[in-house]
Amino acid sequence: MFYLKKEQITNNMAHFIPVFILDDIDSTNRFAKELSFDYALVVSNKQTLGRGRLGRGFYSPQGGIYMSLLAKVPFMYQNIPFITTSAAVAVHKAIKSLYNKNVSIKWINDIYLDGKKVSGILCESADSEHAVIGIGINFAVSDFPNELKEFAASLFESDTDNNPNILISQIIDNLLDIILNLPDTSFMDYYKENSLILNKEVLITKDNTTFCGKAVDIDSQGALIVETPQGIQKLTSGDITIRLKN
Ligand code: BTN
Repeated sequence: MFYLKKEQITNNMAHFIPVFILDDIDSTNRFAKELSFDYALVVSNKQTLGRGRLGRGFYSPQGGIYMSLLAKVPFMYQNIPFITTSAAVAVHKAIKSLYNKNVSIKWINDIYLDGKKVSGILCESADSEHAVIGIGINFAVSDFPNELKEFAASLFESDTDNNPNILISQIIDNLLDIILNLPDTSFMDYYKENSLILNKEVLITKDNTTFCGKAVDIDSQGALIVETPQGIQKLTSGDITIRLKN
């Protein structure tokens, strides 16, 4: 079993920000929102009330990585659409460069490995200038509850020798590099190049209705452009779920 180590995280990070390591917490996003810093990182070994998108929970046992970055975002209001996509790029890049695993980004902010989700991202605002970017990664979680088994994967088996502290440092460095460079959105090219659904047939569920279409583009604001029998649709994150059509 691996251990979270504050020195390993900070020593491997190019950016200097306060880091809080917790053993157990309801939600690292909730904890990070209450901090009074411009930038801070909160990482926990497990969460008792991990939050997911669309009011769902996030399964958060020991063995996963649960972290939240509190960050002052330049021109927060204009840059909101890019916070989520930048986190997806940061996680994807780090996993790819450290482990060379075959991961891809499923619009808008899930990371998939061989058809299953290994990471989810939940961004919230802390106040008008600060965002909380919550990242959950199934790092070494091999025992999922039945209802998740079909959809969730882990990067490694539970007895891995791989060190999550290095992955954490690299993700936060990647993420801060992008955020501190906004409004430069050139990272969106990487996002598109590594998309799971671009140029594929997809099923979209919105307002309790499911329809199909082809994902033809992701625009400069991160919106998904889908060609449907009813015409072109532009989807922004909101209450939408999307899956590949078999
Ligand atoms: C999703 O897949 O719906 C998003 C999941 C986000 C989970 C992370 S784990 C760390 C942070 N704290 C939370 O309560 N949620 C996010």
